[in-house]
Amino acid sequence: MSESKAWVDAPFKLIPSSKAGAEVGKESKGAKQLASEMCIVHNVFLRGLNAVYNQARNVAARGTAKDKTDFANFAYGWAGMLEEHHHTEEAVIFPEINELTGVPGLMDSNVDEHKAFHDGLSAYTEYLDKVRSGNEEFDGDKLISIIDSFAVVLRDHLANEIDTLLGLEKYEDKCDWGAWFKAAIDKIVGPAMKKSEYRSDIFPMAVIFHDKTFDGGVWQEFPPIPWLFAVMLRWLFMNTRKDWWRFSGCDFTSHPKELPFG
Ligand SMILES: [Fe+2]
Repeated sequence: MSESKAWVDAPFKLIPSSKAGAEVGKESKGAKQLASEMCIVHNVFLRGLNAVYNQARNVAARGTAKDKTDFANFAYGWAGMLEEHHHTEEAVIFPEINELTGVPGLMDSNVDEHKAFHDGLSAYTEYLDKVRSGNEEFDGDKLISIIDSFAVVLRDHLANEIDTLLGLEKYEDKCDWGAWFKAAIDKIVGPAMKKSEYRSDIFPMAVIFHDKTFDGGVWQEFPPIPWLFAVMLRWLFMNTRKDWWRFSGCDFTSHPKELPFG
């Protein structure tokens, strides 16, 4: 990686794996396993956000019309993935945790935090939707100022939620949180993967925003898919939107690469 070019680990700091109690070569269990899985996904969001933030001005200044449209689609896709994640948490994951622990409202603080960046995120998607559909010229400064309106609150939320999940250790007698979360995600991702739009437009972001070398390779097993399926995914689906995914900080095997407009 070039030292002088911006990458996807800043300005919005990634969450260290140690926060979730993860260690290289050691399998996490229970609440720590759940916190680890969530931390991986939250870092996926942060790398995506940094990729957008660090390239917006350069794409606007020296990109072609196609670069700008592709970048708008890339940035818009990131928000779609984030919104889907929060929707799933509010509709399925958090209510089930409240029920399993027998503590109504246990996860409410996280839902409140979702509300705190909702308006900023809406402004972001509305603006990018106009750009990607050709109704507005892409302005890097404008996008940066919209991101500045919500990103710190979002980053805080993504870190705070890990603490809430680690707190489930207190209820370890009621549930194997790691196994439960894995089953819950399989139930959601399994049917979603049957849709071609999900395979080509959403799931690839879990690959290109994940860095298998992060923190000494602590999370190199992510995403948890068989290698043959991973190869198929690359060949059949990731290439569909390769013009969008080129703006990411990792390649189709989740290894770091330079940002084209960093
Ligand atoms: Fe989350």
